[in-house]
Amino acid sequence: MGLLEGKVCVITGGAGSLGLASARVLQREGAKTMLVDLDDTDLRRAVATLESEKTAMMVADVTQAQQVQGYFDATVRKWGKIDVLFSNAGNSGTVAPVTEYPDEVFDQVIAVHVRGAYLNCKYGLPNMKDGGSIIITSSIVGVRGGGGGTVAYVTAKHAQVGLMRNVAREAARRGIRVNTLHPGPIDNEFQLGIEQGISKMIGRDATQMLNENIPLKRHATPDEVARSVLYLASDLSSFTTGTTLMVDGGSNS
Ligand SMILES: NC(=O)c1ccc[n+]([C@@H]2O[C@H](COP(=O)([O-])OP(=O)(O)OC[C@H]3O[C@@H](n4cnc5c(N)ncnc54)[C@H](O)[C@@H]3O)[C@@H](O)[C@H]2O)c1
Repeated sequence: MGLLEGKVCVITGGAGSLGLASARVLQREGAKTMLVDLDDTDLRRAVATLESEKTAMMVADVTQAQQVQGYFDATVRKWGKIDVLFSNAGNSGTVAPVTEYPDEVFDQVIAVHVRGAYLNCKYGLPNMKDGGSIIITSSIVGVRGGGGGTVAYVTAKHAQVGLMRNVAREAARRGIRVNTLHPGPIDNEFQLGIEQGISKMIGRDATQMLNENIPLKRHATPDEVARSVLYLASDLSSFTTGTTLMVDGGSNS
């Protein structure tokens, strides 16, 4: 019997690298998954790689309250309940020193990571079963500053930790656990985009520099981060709440 047999999980950013890798890992353990993302074509492409009877999808923007309410309602209509909320949607913004950072990009990054995770908790919790699990994808730069140039992203990822700590206290009375996940650099397009911007800003290969500085000397694969999502989603972590789980190859040591 799988670790998530009969469980229902909502995954935002579900068409992306980590969201889709996690859907695959959670399904393998028996979960049904509702994938939420911005673009219908991207979602269809992602869903086509998953087990059809365990998969649903919905186009929605996590910054829009009505749409957030909409995917929780749709999930409950389809499967009767929600056990796991994986609040994972993210955008990277741009790379620039704080003095040159575009205000509208700052607002967009805060909106997706902070307002998005807040709306997920606000509208997700009333629909969740007692004893469930909320996982919010933060980052290694949710607990430290990174190398500079990503002020909006670093600010947003830190703010998610505050949000998580508050909601963990409130949700504990229902046995719902709330944690943040903190991946280091993942080998995917999202991270490559950030690293290309940083390379330009500092005049050095940021990918190589990061690998040199990570104790395990490499980026994570999406699948190995997804296995930490499984840990937080399942009863393997039944006494773990209000915490920051680093999946960073030792960078925060
Ligand atoms: N890639 C990395 O190295 C890395 C490291 C640490 C943390 N993270 C975090 O992991 C999470 C997943 O990122 P990823 O690496 O899979 O990148 P990704 O770009 O492949 O996935 C992110 C997904 O979020 C979706 N999204 C963006 N804005 C949205 C919105 N308003 N509403 C709904 N969906 C939206 C995107 O369309 C995309 O599919 C993000 O929160 C990111 O910040 C990534």
